[in-house]
Amino acid sequence: MPRAIISPSVLASDFGQLTAECKRMIKNGAEWLHMDVMDGHFVPNITMGAPVLSCVSKGVPGIFMDCHMMVAHPEKWVDDIADAGGSLYCFHIEAAPDPIPIIHAIHERKMKAGVAISPDTPSSAITDEIGELADMLLVMTVYPGRGGQKFLERCIPKVAELRARFPDKDIEVDGGVGPKTIQPCANAGSNVIVAGTAIFGAQNPEEVIKGLKAVVEA
Ligand code: DX5
Ligand code: ZN
Repeated sequence: MPRAIISPSVLASDFGQLTAECKRMIKNGAEWLHMDVMDGHFVPNITMGAPVLSCVSKGVPGIFMDCHMMVAHPEKWVDDIADAGGSLYCFHIEAAPDPIPIIHAIHERKMKAGVAISPDTPSSAITDEIGELADMLLVMTVYPGRGGQKFLERCIPKVAELRARFPDKDIEVDGGVGPKTIQPCANAGSNVIVAGTAIFGAQNPEEVIKGLKAVVEA
């Protein structure tokens, strides 16, 4: 299995201090920062887009921005996110009737490509061709749209199914993940862990990051 990576979701951070919040998480041991981009179409909420990400990448040199694109027409934003310094561009299969050309476009812009599935989407939506071409697969453990929701354990079998088919890929879980829910994610073979509330809301984020990582690496 690929190495364990913790990707705190900045959705749970103080957006007024976004750059400082990202620096704080890196100092506390986070490898990636999870940037939730919502467009008010694919999901009802609006969060941030390329102009904000651009400020973050300039303000936090070397940051790995794990961009979770909860957007309609994900093909539209590949160039903007690449120009803003995005490191990984993860789009939803539900929003992409023709995902293969999008993955190629992401790779052409030198970003890693991720493909996400929402709770009601089966793992079979990730075809062999998609899974082999993508760098990361994201199994949502809440309905996309907002932070702080309850972890849906029923999504976890999909992680195991994808891990069995794609032993070398990064498999990310996102939504309601924290010290109390990490174990089934790790058991099923997830190696990239997104946590918003559980990390930003913690007294000691370093301890939470370390603890999550230890469970994945065990
Ligand atoms: C939900 C987002 C998640 C969310 C995670 O739409 O994709 O990244 O912010 O936050 P927590 O960990 O608080 O569920
Ligand atoms: Zn997310």
